[in-house]
Amino acid sequence: MKGVILAGGLATRLRPLTLVTNKHLLPVYHQPMIYYSLQAMQKAGVSEVLLTTSGDHAGDFANLLKNGEEFGLKLLYSIQDNPKGGISDAIALAQEFAGNESILVLLGDNIFNFNLEASRKKFEQKQYGAMIFGVHKDTDSRHYGVIEMDKSGKVLSIEEKPEHPKSDIAQTGIYMYDHRVFDFIKTLKPSAKGELEVTDLNNCYRAESKLFCEIIDWWIDAGASYDELLAANNDVAKMVKAGQL
Ligand code: DAU
Repeated sequence: MKGVILAGGLATRLRPLTLVTNKHLLPVYHQPMIYYSLQAMQKAGVSEVLLTTSGDHAGDFANLLKNGEEFGLKLLYSIQDNPKGGISDAIALAQEFAGNESILVLLGDNIFNFNLEASRKKFEQKQYGAMIFGVHKDTDSRHYGVIEMDKSGKVLSIEEKPEHPKSDIAQTGIYMYDHRVFDFIKTLKPSAKGELEVTDLNNCYRAESKLFCEIIDWWIDAGASYDELLAANNDVAKMVKAGQL
């Protein structure tokens, strides 16, 4: 399995913090936000990683992360020309890099302490089409994709930021896809926001009953708002001090 970390987008919700830098370079306690995704890849046992970002800050990432050796990774970079093309548009940049292998995609503003290694091995053995990761959340569903699943983990429905959620399970930014992902992305149409949505991509697998979900305990979308960024700093500080991250 190869890794893809998404670190593009405009991060307008965090301005002025993101006027002259990229959101994923902002600090979360003792590290830049992007470090957590790189460390999660390393723990998952995925050693070749493509980082996608927009052209304006690509040099900053290269200066900071270099070839990824510090993280035990082989790190490559790709530029997303349209920073608001959408998550699936950014994933499409990994086609050549992935070759015929499956991919683990992480949104670079997500932080979690779940070790993905066992899930990666299960995904590879069971030949699922796609695996997504959810978390029980009681906050506003209009900020997340919402997953409905059965007891076996099979996803029954998934909706992007619905007004009337069918469950309390939020879709995190952790996704595993088989090699067909790039063919599915080519069939997607831009949403009302003008983006190729990850939820539409996941629905391609759900339509084939090949989308599965695993629940994780703790996760934060550090880039969602000022409050989430603040909560991420406080939560991560506590977890690092307790040896849980
Ligand atoms: O964080 C989990 C949520 O992420 C999911 O619950 C939603 O279903 C999913 O659509 C996504 O929603 P967000 O509104 O949080 O996505 P956002 O636009 O903030 O982008 C998430 C990450 O992807 C962020 O690290 C930037 C990167 N990104 C985003 C876009 C739109 C790119 O690299 N390129 C892009 O074009």
